[in-house]
Amino acid sequence: MKPRLFNPYTLLPRLGHPAPMFEIQSSQGLIKLSDYKGKWVLLFSYPADFTPVCTTELKAFASVYPSLKKLNTELIGVSVDNVVEHRNWIKILEEEGKFPIQFPILADLNLEVSNRYGLLPNENTEEASRSVYIIDPAQIIRAIMHYPATTGRNTGELLRLIKALQVADSQKAMTPVNWQPGDELIYPGSYHTCKR
Ligand code: BEZ
Repeated sequence: MKPRLFNPYTLLPRLGHPAPMFEIQSSQGLIKLSDYKGKWVLLFSYPADFTPVCTTELKAFASVYPSLKKLNTELIGVSVDNVVEHRNWIKILEEEGKFPIQFPILADLNLEVSNRYGLLPNENTEEASRSVYIIDPAQIIRAIMHYPATTGRNTGELLRLIKALQVADSQKAMTPVNWQPGDELIYPGSYHTCKR
């Protein structure tokens, strides 16, 4: 077998590993991941501006942004479109929708973020995957999701996931299936949920 010069899969970020750094132009100017130290970050990628499913997602992300801020969590979007396209799309979304887009969308034209986060190649297209990386305040990757282009994500589940990670950290506990904020937790050494 011929040796490969480059295998993108060996470089993919893993849970518990440091988030790959980036410094890149966005709809809100230059964004450096290192500036987000001390906050949780929900980095989400999507295939393309001005597409139907992505439009529903951007509006939904804008609607949960105030709830995320209360959880010390920042949103960063990313696609391989350019800044002008991002700003034109955002203008339309804000005219149509109820919520301003107050978070940056990275313009990953040189594929800096896409390559580091394994967003491309994707489903035989040149568009980024519909992925989510949850990065903790120490800039460690704590959760990863990859969705197909045809399926919009569930912002309620993303909120629940961030709350579950935060509770697990603060209570040194785990969250059972279908856990919702306020439900009982599972503590190390136990098979059952309990209140403490
Ligand atoms: C969409 O957002 O509607 C979409 C984008 C790329 C491929 C399929 C659907």
